Amino acid sequence: MSNKEAWGTRIGLVLAMAGNAVGLGNFLRFPVQAVQNGGGAFIIPYLTCFLLMGIPLLWIEWSMGRFGGKYGHHSTPFILDAIDKRKFWKYIGVFGIFTNLAVAAYYCYLESWTLSWIWHSVDRSFAGKTQEEVANFFGTYVSLTSLEPVFFWVICLLLNTWILSRGLSGGVEVASKIGMPLLILFGAFLAFMAITMKAGEHGAIHPGTTGLNFLWTPDFSSIWTAKVWLAAAGQIFFTLSVGMGSIQCYASYVKSKDDVALNAMSAGWMNEFVEVVLGSSVIIPIAVGYFGIDRVIEMTTSGGLGLGFRTLPFLFEQWGPALAVICGVCWFGLLFFAGITSSLAMGTPCMGFLMDEFGWKRQKSAWAFGCAVLLLGLPTVLFFNEGVFDEYDYWAGTVSLVVFALTETILFAWIFGMGKGWKEITDGADMKVPSVFKFIIKFITPLILLFVFVASIPDIVNKILSAGSIYVTLSRIGLLLVWIGVAYLVYIAYRKRIKEGRFTS
Ligand code: PHE
Repeated sequence: MSNKEAWGTRIGLVLAMAGNAVGLGNFLRFPVQAVQNGGGAFIIPYLTCFLLMGIPLLWIEWSMGRFGGKYGHHSTPFILDAIDKRKFWKYIGVFGIFTNLAVAAYYCYLESWTLSWIWHSVDRSFAGKTQEEVANFFGTYVSLTSLEPVFFWVICLLLNTWILSRGLSGGVEVASKIGMPLLILFGAFLAFMAITMKAGEHGAIHPGTTGLNFLWTPDFSSIWTAKVWLAAAGQIFFTLSVGMGSIQCYASYVKSKDDVALNAMSAGWMNEFVEVVLGSSVIIPIAVGYFGIDRVIEMTTSGGLGLGFRTLPFLFEQWGPALAVICGVCWFGLLFFAGITSSLAMGTPCMGFLMDEFGWKRQKSAWAFGCAVLLLGLPTVLFFNEGVFDEYDYWAGTVSLVVFALTETILFAWIFGMGKGWKEITDGADMKVPSVFKFIIKFITPLILLFVFVASIPDIVNKILSAGSIYVTLSRIGLLLVWIGVAYLVYIAYRKRIKEGRFTS
């Protein structure tokens, strides 16, 4: 067995897990979801989903991971196999590798934009431009009129591969220990700038608090709308990185006697702090300050990338040259740190699988991941405007998460059973886990997941039936082939284990 990875320190582990969770989703996706779903009306379903679905899933995934790690498994196919011997669980576990690959494929492209935008903030490329010109800059960029996007994308992939090849304690932990504190520092500075923004200064028409009030004044009028609940549940999945397989992988390197309960809470709550406090205090307050709530709602219908990359650089320019550079570097620097600590987490399950099953060295596995992301990501780079990026996000970043989370919860709570499950969560725990969660994990969480899944079926069917462009169809087929390819590797690994007499648990 060549997989000798381990975490260096507890703080390193918690920061790496928090870094996994804190990502572009916290700063770009969350604010837009909140605005699109009624601001204050979104917060109640969101927090409810965090308590009844997010926290239980964190405990389930952390304890599953540590459990699998005891038997030397570091990716979900064989972690699930260690929990129940029925053959198909391995293939459910395929999701825990597939999703990471497919999400990394589009996520790293997005991550690479932040590098380019840092450069252009320093270079003053946005100076003296109108709002339309700054927005067009983005349009031109993703249309690949120059090779710059490809350049930054490759740099970003190389950086990820290099850090991954240095291992958990020497790479991922170091990146998280540098990235997370800086991210919080930059975020706090930008939040301060946004909230203290005054009407009439630098051309703003509302104070920064207007946007914040819109997000934070609870509104019960649309709380019973299924759409709001689905959006809230989807955001909880994406932001906590649950239903992915990356938490199980990180947790599989935790020592068998070490705590998972408190660590899971520390990382999870850190993510919520960054999302709810910092994530809601930057783009929305600034944008609302300049455009008012209605315009911002209109501007976010097509997602968060618009505000973050097309509009914010223009608004920073209104604050004068020095602040434009400082805020640009802080904003895109923050996004970069948020992004890279997440994309590193997407690399580890694939690497763990290759190292465990095929005895590959860490460096070789890291390069294999880097090359796979290069190949799989290429269509999202080349055909961004054709909707390939969004297609990946839908199937891998949304549907797969729900399918995997639902099945793993059933496995944990009903097949493994809450008796054993509870023991796994509380073993070595440095906190008292409220026993009401025994009930929640067994009944409430699976029911919520089932509801989310069933409620998404019409949309899934609709997607499949609606004829997309040829690019969209090809990317779906591509993703399906990736899933099948990973499943085939799992099959080979399983045969290999039988042949070598290495039992799977
Ligand atoms: N949680 C990350 C975010 O908020 C995304 C992510 C998903 C990271 C899956 C790792 C694995 O952006």
